[in-house]
Amino acid sequence: MEDYYWDDKLDYLKNTRDLYYNDDYLGFLVNSVWKISKPVHIVDYGCGYGYLGLKLLPLLPKGSRYTGIDKGQKLINDAKKLFETLPYEAEFIVADVTEIELESKYDIAVCHAFLLHMTDPIKMLQKMIHSVINEGNIICFEPHWISNMSSYHLSEYDQSEIMQLGFLQKLFEEDVKRNGKDGNIGIKLPTYLSKLGVKNIDCRVSDKVNFLDSNANQTDKQRLYDSLKEEGLGIAPAEREEFIERLINRGATCNEAYEQYKAELRFSEVFNINSSLNYAPSMKVTFGVVNK
Ligand SMILES: C[S@@+](CC[C@H](N)C(=O)[O-])C[C@H]1O[C@@H](n2cnc3c(N)ncnc32)[C@H](O)[C@@H]1O
Repeated sequence: MEDYYWDDKLDYLKNTRDLYYNDDYLGFLVNSVWKISKPVHIVDYGCGYGYLGLKLLPLLPKGSRYTGIDKGQKLINDAKKLFETLPYEAEFIVADVTEIELESKYDIAVCHAFLLHMTDPIKMLQKMIHSVINEGNIICFEPHWISNMSSYHLSEYDQSEIMQLGFLQKLFEEDVKRNGKDGNIGIKLPTYLSKLGVKNIDCRVSDKVNFLDSNANQTDKQRLYDSLKEEGLGIAPAEREEFIERLINRGATCNEAYEQYKAELRFSEVFNINSSLNYAPSMKVTFGVVNK
C-alpha cells in the first residue's frame, strides 16, 4: 500500500521552495534557454500548491495557461485560493496521476520534485510525453540527492562529521532497488528521456546557493534558518534504537546505522541560527522535445 502524506505538507512545501532557484535564473531558462516567445499551455504533474505555475506564469508570454494536477485535495484547495486573485488562466485537477491519462493537448509537460516519489518513474515520463502535442516540450525539475548532500559547508566543522557521503550513496541506491523511488533521479533523466525517444535533450543545475550568514540581520537569518530546518537540515534524529532499526530495514549494517545516527545527532547539536552555513540543493533541470 502506497503511503501518501503530501496533503499535510503544505507548510513544508511553502517554506522550502525558495531554497532552490533565484527568480533571475528561472527567467534566464524561460527566455534564453527555452526561448518561449508564444503563449503556451503547461501541465504540471504533482503541482502541489502550484509552485511552478506561480514562478513560471509571470515569465511566460501573455495568454499562457497552466493546468496543475495533484492528488492532494487540500493542496489543490490552497492552489485555487492563491490563483484566485492573480491575472493568470489556471485550472486545477485533483487526481492520482498514476490512474489517469491526459489528452495529448499541452505544449509543455512539467514537474517539480515529483518523479522521485514515483515507484515507476519511467511510466510517469511516458504519460508526460503522451500529454504533449507534436513538437511539445517536457521539462523536469528533479533532485539529485547525493549531489545535494555533498553541497554543505558548516563553518568550523569537517563535512564528514555531519554528512556520511559514502553511506548515503549506498542508502539511496538501496532505496531505489527496494521500492523504485529515486532521490537521485534528476541526474538520470537525460538518459531516461533519450531512451523514450525525446530529442534535443539538455540538462541544467539549479543556481541557488543558500548562505546563512551569521553576520546578517536577525530577520533574514530567521527566514533562511526556518526554511533550512523545514528542509531537514540539522533536524534531531529519532530515538536511537528506532532510528537504527529503520536504517537497517533500508539495508544499512548496524555500524553504518549507528554512525549515521551520530552524524545526524552531531549536525542537530551544532547547527543553530548563528551558524555560518552554505547549502546548494543542486536540483537538475532536464528538458527536451517530443516528436510524434
Ligand atoms: C515534493 S511535492 C512537490 C509539489 C510541487 N511540485 C512543488 O514542488 O511544490 C510532491 C507532490 O506530488 C504529489 N503526488 C504524489 N503522488 C501523486 C500521485 N500519484 N498523483 C498526483 N500527485 C501526486 C503530492 O501530492 C505532492 O504535491
